[in-house]
Formats: sequence, structure tokens, C-alpha cells
Amino acid sequence: MADTLTVTDNRTGKTYELAVTDGTINAMDLRKIRVSDDDFGLMAYDPAYKNTASCRSAITYIDGDQGILHYRGYPIEQLAVQSSFLECSYLLLKGELPSPSAMARFRHEVTHHTLVHENTRELLDGFRYDAHPMGMLISTIAALSTFYPEAQNVTNEENRWLQIVRLIGKVPTLAAYAYRHRRGLPYVYPDNELSYSGNFLNMLFKMTERTYVPNPAAERALDVLFILHADHEQNCSTSAMRGVGSSRVDPYSALAAACAALYGPLHGGANEAVVRMLNEIGTKDNIPSFVKRAKEDKNVRLMGFGHRVYKNYDPRAKVIKELAYDVFEALGKNPLIDIAVELERIALEDDYFIQKKLYPNVDFYSGLIYQALGLPMDMYPVLFAIGRTVGWLAQWEEMLRDPEQAISRPRQIYTGPAIRDYVPLSER
Ligand code: ACO
Repeated sequence: MADTLTVTDNRTGKTYELAVTDGTINAMDLRKIRVSDDDFGLMAYDPAYKNTASCRSAITYIDGDQGILHYRGYPIEQLAVQSSFLECSYLLLKGELPSPSAMARFRHEVTHHTLVHENTRELLDGFRYDAHPMGMLISTIAALSTFYPEAQNVTNEENRWLQIVRLIGKVPTLAAYAYRHRRGLPYVYPDNELSYSGNFLNMLFKMTERTYVPNPAAERALDVLFILHADHEQNCSTSAMRGVGSSRVDPYSALAAACAALYGPLHGGANEAVVRMLNEIGTKDNIPSFVKRAKEDKNVRLMGFGHRVYKNYDPRAKVIKELAYDVFEALGKNPLIDIAVELERIALEDDYFIQKKLYPNVDFYSGLIYQALGLPMDMYPVLFAIGRTVGWLAQWEEMLRDPEQAISRPRQIYTGPAIRDYVPLSER
């Protein structure tokens, strides 16, 4: 059977054969379907890209019906238990797990790019005492482009790699500085003796002690959360990274744009909403009435449930749920976990959630861990951004190497007025 699609245009009676490759038709092939010689040709209309593949990608595989997530072919469950965030970063960027020497080199490169230019402190000092850390992070990431003007040369592979390791090294520093600014605390310089996540905890929480010793459970939890958030194929912020990067702007500016997309409540803000919801529910007794409201009132949703792609248990949520118990054992239990577990149990037995295939997503349990680590809610999207930085960069690199890609520029269906003559202000 030929891999083609035969389409008859009922406007003209003409029949066309379109190639089907990897389960898709090439949208440009539609352009040959025309009603007349001067017709522009048929286009596909797809607001929010619900059914359009914008690229070919070899980085992340998701099967939403089965609840499967792979990075470069490796199941997320295996990576979360056996790998580290830096190793996963290498995997996402390079396509293969590193050899021991490549891993050591990569670790060295990233840790030696953790310092930021001292002027960054002055930049942060310009923000109000209560500035949202995500706003500060977006601004300081964008500002990095002014410190590294050579980053504009995005056609040079070696130069791109330098900016990639700089960003992986510096984003946690900027994130921690934003947090310290909020708290009125002095900024803490990176400690290169610590792991990636251990150093981040150091930059967040070090007070007057000579050397900060991270709690191993907190360090591991953070590392696993970074792994779980590292990439998720063509989501809103990644599409922003690719779209902005397609103009060949430097990666700092493109990454600031991706980070801005993540700031939105529909993307990086749901874990905060889960914690607020669990606080509002308050006790297990209130769960049934809340679930009832979530089913009946279209304005109330069970936050942390449901996903555009996953119509099964989000594999990341499974890992995070187990991780939560490890963290609570080490740092003390977050009482909201009992409400969350009971809420999950009741929802998963309810016909409404079963029929609509609504399962816990990555955000359902992650906020509880962040809370146990002592982080305020407005830092949750910042933590998401640290992990996702590597995914944004891997996708950016892949986009720049792809000969099929060009500047991102969708079409539109014009719905405005037809041509009309300008009327001077005095005559209106
Ligand atoms: N609680 C109650 N009902 C829900 C929920 C929920 N959490 N999620 C979806 N539904 C219902 C909708 O009301 C809708 O019902 P209808 O068909 O009777 O109108 C149906 O399920 C389908 O929902 P849509 O919103 O059309 O599904 P979509 O794929 O567009 O949305 C989304 C997915 C936004 C994640 C949605 O499930 C939601 O709002 N969940 C809560 C917020 C959340 O947890 N977001 C984090 C997502 S993960 C991430 O971004 C990292």
C-alpha cells in the first residue's frame, strides 16, 4: 500500500496525491491544491498547533496514551533513579550517555561557568524588594547577552557550545541571586566542590557557616526534579525557544523568551496552584465536596490533574510521588501529602476523571517537595526553569543544525476590513 493520501478538491473536482511520511503530510504540499492559477493555494489552519508537527526531533519521545517519556531513548524512570542531572544534560545535548572522561570534562566545563559578572548584582539591586524571582531571572538571563556579545555568532558550533555550558552553569546562580534578593540576604558565590544541585542549595541557603553542607536527601531530590523537568519536546516554552532562536538571535535572548513563556500560569505555574488548592481543602473530610465542585463547576479544576498530551498517569508524577516520601523522611513530613494522596485516590476512582482520562501530572506532587525544602511558592517556576534550560538548549542546537528549519513565520487567515481610503482626522 502506497504511503500517500488521495484528496479530491470538491471545488474543482481535481484529485491530488500527497505523500505521507512519518504519519504526516507536508503542509507545503497543500499549496498545489488551487482553484485557479492566481490562487495562493490551500493552507492548514491550526491555532495553538494542536495537530501540527513543527520539527523533526531526536531528543524526547512521549507516548501520552501509554504514559511514556524517554530522553534519547532512555526511559525517564531509569534516568531518575540511576543518572544525575548533569549526565542527563549531556545526554540531551549530545545524544549519547558520556564516557567517564567526557562526563568529567563536561562537569568541569559547567562548574567553571557558574560565576556571573559582578555587575549582575547591581542589576538585581535595581529590582524592588518584593520583585517576583521569575521576572528577575528572565531579565538577568537576557542581560547575559550583553556580557557575551560573541554569542551572536550562532553559526559557529564551538561558540554555541561555550554559550550552552555558560547557561547551564549560570542559570542556577541567577536563580539563587533572585531568591536572595527577595530575602534581603547577601548573594552567595558558587562552590565548585559541590554537585550541581548541592551548589544550588548552597547559593540559596548558606548563612554564616564557613562551608555549606547540603542535606543529601534534599540534594538528590532537587537533582531528580531537574532531571524530570529537563525536556518535554515541543511544549510552549520550547516552541518559544525554537521560534525566537530561529531569527538567529543569541541564545541568552532566546532563552529569556523561553523562560518568559514558562512564567505563564498555564505552563510553569500549576505546581503552585496545587499547593494553594491543597491548603484550601485543608482536611481530608473536605475532599469529596471539593471533587464534586471540580466536576460540576467549570471554573474549578483539580489542579495537577489532566494534561494535553498524557491521557494516562504522567510518568514523572509517579517518580515524584515516591521521591516526596524520601524527602519527608529526611526533612520532616509535609502534612499536605496525606490530603494529596487521598485526593488522588478518590479522583482516580471517580467516573468523571476516569472517563476524561484525567490523571496526576508532574505538578501534583512537586510543589510539596519544594515546600518541604523550604522554598517559597514563587520560586517553583524558577526551579522548573533551571531543569528545562538544558532542554531548551538541546532543542535550540538541534533546530540550528536542521537544514529543513528556517525563520519561524506562520501564516494567517486575514479577517479584517477590505481595502478602504484613509479619512483625515478633521473629517471624521
Ligand atoms: N479538573 C477537572 N476537570 C478537568 C481537569 C481538571 N484538572 N482537566 C480537564 N478537565 C475536564 C475539562 O473541564 C474538560 O471537560 P469537558 O470535556 O466536559 O469540557 C475535559 O476535562 C478536557 O479538558 P481540556 O481543558 O479541554 O483539556 P486540555 O488538554 O486542553 O487541558 C490541562 C489540559 C490544561 C492541563 C487541564 O487538564 C487542566 O487545566 N489541568 C489543571 C491544571 C494543571 O494541572 N496544569 C499543569 C499541566 S502540566 C504542565 O504544564 C507542566
